[in-house]
Amino acid sequence: MRLGIARSDDPDDGRVAAVPDSIPRYLDLGATVRVESGAGVAAGYTDEAYRTAGAEIVDAESVITDVDVLAVVSAPSPQRLARLPEGVVVIGLLRPVHATDVARHLAERRATALALELVPRISRAQSLDALSSQAGIAGYKAVLLAANEVDKLFPLSMTAAGTIRPANVVVLGAGVAGLQAVATARRLGAAVKANDVRAAAADEVASLGAEFVHIPGVTDQSGDYAQDLGAGLAEAQQEALGPHVAEADAVICTAQIPGRPAPRILTASMVAAMRPGSVVIDLPAEDGGNCELTDPGRTTEHDGVRVIPAPQLARTLPGEASALYARNVAELFALLVVDGAVSVDVEDEVVGATLLTRDGEIVHPPTAEAAGAIDAPTDTDEGGAL
Ligand code: NAI
Repeated sequence: MRLGIARSDDPDDGRVAAVPDSIPRYLDLGATVRVESGAGVAAGYTDEAYRTAGAEIVDAESVITDVDVLAVVSAPSPQRLARLPEGVVVIGLLRPVHATDVARHLAERRATALALELVPRISRAQSLDALSSQAGIAGYKAVLLAANEVDKLFPLSMTAAGTIRPANVVVLGAGVAGLQAVATARRLGAAVKANDVRAAAADEVASLGAEFVHIPGVTDQSGDYAQDLGAGLAEAQQEALGPHVAEADAVICTAQIPGRPAPRILTASMVAAMRPGSVVIDLPAEDGGNCELTDPGRTTEHDGVRVIPAPQLARTLPGEASALYARNVAELFALLVVDGAVSVDVEDEVVGATLLTRDGEIVHPPTAEAAGAIDAPTDTDEGGAL
């Protein structure tokens, strides 16, 4: 059982799928771990540290060709995908639905690909939940970014020279990233308000010392996954949030709907009502953004209000993001091992839901549909998230 840990092919992503601390877990399971030379350097983990932990250091070719399981953060380049051995197991954030070319390549190589985005959100799978582990880091970093960019102190400051009021921060979306943003902004001393469409978020926001903006008819959804509000309710939400946004020094956008474009919450006129010097930080910028003025590629300025796209913030803390991600990957790997050999049990609730490709097919229906491999969606997407 040879596990390969490849260096990221994305120059903007220094994260790595295993860290030295995660190697003993694999050795205990009976695997040999082959780490590509330099795979962890950008995240602060040297080849020597992996070697000391019991891994082999290998070159860029054999980490792809001489392995039974390949673990990555994001998909390898098309050139490397084309060299995967037939039947290899691939674990990573493989962007189901969106990266249809990756899914096609993996199916062509007859790879058994497991996309961590598809891990079901059930108690048993919490330790495999890479979206959550990375979102927590993103929420924290979003607040630091806002604090750095806004022209105002976050905490209340009482000095002999006068009193400075705390910054007003509004967080849109109170899921994993949003709650971490609320907590971080509170720790920095800001006055924080947050909104979400899920009713359960209200107590979580309140428990962090922030105010939940309740909007009748809007913040009433039950369940873990948000639904699209529809035009009427979206307008009601915008109207209700307008005064809070107008008072904000920073708006941190984290709202997402699994498998859908990000909901548009902040309109141009809401941003126009903000004061010059304030900022909007938009985390789901690559999925369309929560703010209609967000340009995913650059910061834009609108009468002194800066709208900052902030996708993929977990990459800005690659060492810790990798440590958490490595744990998620190791937990999934452990589900694939039976008596010291890799055995993919598609009947397992977690493994089955996480499958992207197998036996030459794209087996995740929404991805297959997006890739044009099937004609219509089916209702067999047990993973639910995408
Ligand atoms: P997400 O990243 O898909 O969305 C972020 C937040 O945006 C969600 O809270 C969602 O309700 C909210 N949202 C969507 N549309 C909105 C709109 N129009 N206006 C305002 N907010 C909107 O979700 P995330 O953060 O990955 O998880 C959401 C929830 O799922 C968690 O709070 C938790 O309850 C649950 N969860 C359960 C896990 C488990 O049991 N293993 C693991 C992680 C999350």
